[in-house]
Amino acid sequence: MEIIIADTQEEMSKIAADMIERQLLRKPSSVLGLATGSTPVGTYEQLVRRHKEEGLDFSKVITFNLDEYLDLSPSHEQSYRYFMDHHLFNHINVDPKNIHVPYGHAGEVEEFCEWYEDEIKRAGGIDVQILGIGADGHIAFNEPGSSLGSRTRLKTLTRQTIEDNARFFDNLDEVPRFAITMGVGTILEAKEIIILANGAKKAEIVAEAIEGPITAQVSASALQMHRQVTVIVDAEAGSKLKRADYYRWIFEEKKRLVPRLIGKVT
Ligand code: F6R
Repeated sequence: MEIIIADTQEEMSKIAADMIERQLLRKPSSVLGLATGSTPVGTYEQLVRRHKEEGLDFSKVITFNLDEYLDLSPSHEQSYRYFMDHHLFNHINVDPKNIHVPYGHAGEVEEFCEWYEDEIKRAGGIDVQILGIGADGHIAFNEPGSSLGSRTRLKTLTRQTIEDNARFFDNLDEVPRFAITMGVGTILEAKEIIILANGAKKAEIVAEAIEGPITAQVSASALQMHRQVTVIVDAEAGSKLKRADYYRWIFEEKKRLVPRLIGKVT
C-alpha cells in the first residue's frame, strides 16, 4: 500500500483528483468506482472544476457507485443517486447511460445484485475505485463481519452507521436500515483502489485498517491484500499511524524525485 499523509483535507482531495485525472488522460474510457459520503466531496469538486475550466473529459467514462439505500428512489434527496447527481454527474459530461448506482426493492434485490456484478464485468471491470472508510472500518456498506469474499448484496446497517448517517435525515427513524452494497470481494477486483479519510474521528480506524491485522471485523483491512492501493489521509486522520514518519518520508522523496510515481506502489 502507498500511504500519503496530506497536510489538509484540501490537499488530500487534490492528490486524489490528480490521480483520477492521470487515469482519464491515460484511458478516456476508464471505469470508475465511486463513493458517496462527506469524504470524497472535495475530490468531486476538483474534478468538476477541472472539467469546467480545463476540459477534463468524462464523455467515455463509465461509473459504478458502491452502494445505495434499499427502496430509496433516485429522486429522494438522501439517496446516493441524488448525492452523486448533485456533487458530480450534473456538472460533468458523463453520458447518463454510463452511470450505474445500485437501485432496488426488497422483492427483487437478488436479481438486481447479480445484474450489477455482471454489468461491472461487461464494462471490463473497475479501473479505479474510490473509497471512504466508516468509523467501524466499513468500505461501501460492508459492516464488521462481512465476508472478505462478499459480492454485491443486501446488507443490514449497524447501529453506529445508522447514527452516523442520521445527520443527513430529519430524524434517526428515517434512516434506512438496509442497503445494497458491492461486496469486499467485488471491491478487491478493482485494478486500482484509492481510499480517503479525513478528520480526527477516523484516526483510530485508519490505523487499525492499515497497520492492524487483516480481519473481517474491519472490512477496510482487506485492502492490505490488494496490489495497488493508495491511502490518502489528512494529518488528523493519519495521526495514529505508527509508521507515519516513514510514509511521509516516502511521499516527500517521490515528490522530489519521481512525482509521476505518486499513487503507484513502489
Ligand atoms: C459511501 C460509502 C461509505 C462511506 C463511509 C464514510 O458510498 O461507501 O462506506 O465511504 O461511510 O462516510 P463519510 O465519508 O461520510 O465519513
